[in-house]
Amino acid sequence: MQVNSQMKFQTVRGTKDILPAEIYKWQHIERTVRSVCERFGYTEIRTPVFEETALFARGIGETTDVVGKEMFSFNPSMEGDAMDSITLRPEMTASVMRAYLQHSLQTLAPLTKVYYFAEMFRKERPQAGRQRQFWQFGCECLGSTAAVSDAEVIAVMSLIYRELGITSATMKLNSLGNLETRKTYRVALQDYFRPHFEKLDAVSKERFDKNPLRILDSKNQSLAEIISDAPRLVDFLDDDSKKHFETLQSHLTNLGIAFELDFKLVRGLDYYSRTAFELVSTDLGAQDALGGGGRYDGLSTALGSESEVPAIGFASGVERLLMVMEKQNLFDHLKPQPPVLFIAALGEAAVKVAMTEAYKLRAKGVRCEMDLLGRSLKSQMREANRSGATYTVVLGDDELEKGIVQLRKMSDATQTQIALNEIIDKIQVGK
Ligand code: HAM
Repeated sequence: MQVNSQMKFQTVRGTKDILPAEIYKWQHIERTVRSVCERFGYTEIRTPVFEETALFARGIGETTDVVGKEMFSFNPSMEGDAMDSITLRPEMTASVMRAYLQHSLQTLAPLTKVYYFAEMFRKERPQAGRQRQFWQFGCECLGSTAAVSDAEVIAVMSLIYRELGITSATMKLNSLGNLETRKTYRVALQDYFRPHFEKLDAVSKERFDKNPLRILDSKNQSLAEIISDAPRLVDFLDDDSKKHFETLQSHLTNLGIAFELDFKLVRGLDYYSRTAFELVSTDLGAQDALGGGGRYDGLSTALGSESEVPAIGFASGVERLLMVMEKQNLFDHLKPQPPVLFIAALGEAAVKVAMTEAYKLRAKGVRCEMDLLGRSLKSQMREANRSGATYTVVLGDDELEKGIVQLRKMSDATQTQIALNEIIDKIQVGK
C-alpha cells in the first residue's frame, strides 16, 4: 500500500490529529479532569457542536474578537427551514446557559454544577498554542451569587492542575464590579486614553470606542507605560462587589490557593461581572493563558431570560496544558499499557486456535495480542518483544497436537509448560 507522501488530503490549517501514540496523554488529562470535577459534585454536560449564531453574538458580545472575527458561521438552511445562521461553538458557557434556560434546570435543584471536555472552534491565526479547533475542559456553577461558589470553581481548576503536576502557573485575579461600575470606569478610561489616542496602536484605537477596557489587555510593550498609569477598575468597585471580592480572596487564602491580584485583567468576553481570573504559565509563549473564567451574572438576561441566573465558571485549553506538561516532562511516568500475552501462531489451524484463545482471554479482561499479518515465527517473536508483552506462547502443529504450550515470561526468559486451557490461571496469577 502506498502511504503518506502521495496523499492529497491533509488536516485543515489550525487543526490537528491526535494520534494513537499520544492519546494516553490526553486520556490522563481527561481522567484527571473528570475525577476532580466529580469529587466536587459537578456532572458532565454535552451540548451540540453548533448553535444559533445569535446565541454567541448576544452572549459573548458583539464587540469581542471572538464574535467580531473568529466565529465559523454558516447558513445551514434546507428548504422550509427558518434558521438564519449557525456557528460552531467558540466556547461552552453560552451553550451551558442556553441549556439551563431551555430545560429549566433550576426546577430540578437550586444549584446546577456541570463540567465539560469538548472541542471548540475559533477562526484565529494559528500559532503555537492557538488553533482553529481546540479542546477545552471547564466547569460552570449556576444559581449562586455567593463568593464561596467563586472560590469553589477556582478550587476545582487549581486541584486539576495540581493533580497533573503543574506547580509553576500563576492564578491572576480581579473584580470587574457590576454593570454600573464598568459604565463609570469605561468613561474614566476613555477620558484617560483620549490625550494619548495618537500613541495607541491600531487595535487599541479600534477598542477605544468599542470596548476601552480591552486596551488594558494589550501585549504591545510600547503601550505598557501608558497602560500602567491608567485608572484602576478596583478603585471604582461598588461596596457589594468589593465585599464579594474580599470574601473570595479570604476563601482562597484559607484553601491555600495562591493568587496574584491583577487589576488589568479584563478577559476577552463581555459577559463577565465581578470575579475574573486567569491561570498563566511562563512555559507558554505569547499565548500564555492556560485557562480563565469568571462570574457571568448578566448572561442569562442577555439571552432573554426574565430572571437573572447568577453563575461562575472557568475553561482551560487542553493543547496549551499539553505543551506545558510535555515541557516539564510530566508524562514520563505514564506508559501506554502493553499486552499481557502475545500468542505467536504458525499455520492455519494454530491461527484459528490462537484467535479463540485470545478472544476468551480478552473477554475475561486480559490484554492479548496476536499476529494478523501472517508473519514468520521469528518476526512474530520480534513483534512480541517490541509490544512489551509480559508473556508469550508459541502455537504450532506440535503444541496443538499435545494441547501443551510453553508460556515464556519475557522479563527473565523462563518457560513454564502448561495446558492451553490453563493459560488464564497462570497469567492472572503471575500478572
Ligand atoms: P477563554 O479565555 O476564551 O474563556 O478560553 C479559555 C481557554 O481556552 C484559554 O485560556 C486557552 O487556554 C484556551 N483557548 C482559547 N482559544 C484557543 C485557541 N484558539 N487555541 C487553543 N486554545 C485556546 C472561555 O472560553 C470562557 N468560556 C471561560 C469561562 C467559562 N468563563 C466562564 N465560564
